[in-house]
Amino acid sequence: MANESQNWVLMVTAQTPTNIAVIKYWGKRDETLILPVNDSISVTLDPNHLCTTTTVAVSPSFQQDRMWLNGKEISLSGGRFQSCLREIRSRACDVEDKKKGIKITKEDWGKLHLHIASYNNFPTAAGLASSAAGFACLVYALGKLMNVKEDESQLSAVARQGSGSACRSLYGGFVKWIMGKEENGNDSLAVQLADEKHWDDLVILIAVVSSRQKETSSTSGMRETVETSLLLQHRAKEVVPKRILQMEEAIRNRDFTSFSKLTCADSNQFHAVCLDTSPPIFYMNDTSHRIISIVEKWNRSEEAPQVAYTFDAGPNAVLIARNRKAATLLIQRLLYYFPPSSDDLNSYIIGDNSIAKDAGINGIPDIEALLPPPEIKDNIPSQKYKGDVSYFICTRPGRGPVSLSDESQALLNGENGLPK
Ligand code: DP6
Repeated sequence: MANESQNWVLMVTAQTPTNIAVIKYWGKRDETLILPVNDSISVTLDPNHLCTTTTVAVSPSFQQDRMWLNGKEISLSGGRFQSCLREIRSRACDVEDKKKGIKITKEDWGKLHLHIASYNNFPTAAGLASSAAGFACLVYALGKLMNVKEDESQLSAVARQGSGSACRSLYGGFVKWIMGKEENGNDSLAVQLADEKHWDDLVILIAVVSSRQKETSSTSGMRETVETSLLLQHRAKEVVPKRILQMEEAIRNRDFTSFSKLTCADSNQFHAVCLDTSPPIFYMNDTSHRIISIVEKWNRSEEAPQVAYTFDAGPNAVLIARNRKAATLLIQRLLYYFPPSSDDLNSYIIGDNSIAKDAGINGIPDIEALLPPPEIKDNIPSQKYKGDVSYFICTRPGRGPVSLSDESQALLNGENGLPK
C-alpha cells in the first residue's frame, strides 16, 4: 500500500432490488454452500419502492470489519456474512485512485478491514425478503469497491452463500436461479431470462398482512421440510423441472394466462409442502386465504385470469396484475374488502399511488362508496375486514443493482467511515 497517509477512506454505494419468486426455492441439498433442490424463477421488484442501499468502505485506519443495518450495529460473525466476505475478498483485484493517491493491491484486501452500512427503504419487519436485497447489495457493492472482474452471474454465486434468494437480486426483470450440479456450487447461479422492459404491462400490488405470529424462518422451515416431507421430493423431481420450462415459455411469450396459472399453482404447492412438513408449518393466515379466494373468484368470472397471487414464508400477498386496467380493478376489490383502519390513505397505499388515483380512489369517502365486486352473485352481504391488511405497496417489475455515484447518497461518512 504505497499511500501517503493512513487516513484515507475509499467507498462505494450501491442500490439493489428485492425479488419475488414465481417458481419457489424451498429446500437445500447443501446447507453451508446454500445449494437448492430445484431451480427457481423470480420477478425483480422496482427498487424505487423496495430496495436496499449499501455503502461499503475500506481504510487502513479501520480496526475490524463492522456493519450497521438501518443505523444499528450488527454482528458480522455469522457464517453467511463470513462466506460472502471471504469469497468476495478472494476475487478482489488491484485498485488505484490517483486523485486520492490510493493504491491497493490484490494482496492488500486480505489485510484491510471494511465498514458496511445498509438501509432498507421498506420496513424490515414487514417480511418482504429483506435478506435477498441485503446480501445482493453487499456483494454487488463490495465487487465494485474491490474491482472484482466477474459478471453479475458469477457474483450471484457469492450472494447465494448469504441467502439463497439473494442470488436472484443481481438482475432486473425475470431471473432464473439454476440449481447446478457441481458439489462446490460453482454452477449454482442466477441468469437473466428477460429484462424489466420485456413485459412492462405487469403491475404488482403487495398486501402487507397484519400478523402477530412469529413465523418460522425460511432457513429452518426448509430444513424441516427437507427432513420430513415426501411431497417435497416429488415436487423437486417431477413438478418443478416441467414448470420451469413452462414458466420460461410464458415469460418469453408474455402469456399471462399461463404465467398466472403457474405462479398460483406453485405458490399453493409451496404452502402444501409446508403443511406436509412435520410438524406442519403455516405461513398464510385467514387474511391470506381470503385474498386467494377474492382473486380466484374474480379470475374465474373473467374469460382469462386478471391477477396472479404468490405468498412467501409469511402471510403477505404479492399480486401481479396483467395490466394497469386489471390493477385498478384489483385495488378496488381489495379496498372494498380491506378498508383502512385509519384516515390516512397516503400511508395505506404506498409506492406508485397513481394506480389508486386511476381507480378513482382519492380519499376515504371513495373507499366507502365502493360497490361489492360483480362476481359476488349471491345476496349474502359480504363482510369487510378493516385492519386485516396493514398497508398496500403498488409497484412493478424493476431493474437490477446500480452503483450510486452521488456521494450525498452514501450511508458512511467519507472522512471517518462511520455512519452519517
Ligand atoms: C419462500 O432465501 O430466505 O422466499 O437461503 O435459507 O436464506 P435461505 O432462505 P431464503 O428463502 C426464500 C424462500 C422463499 C421462496 C423464494 O424466494 O424462492
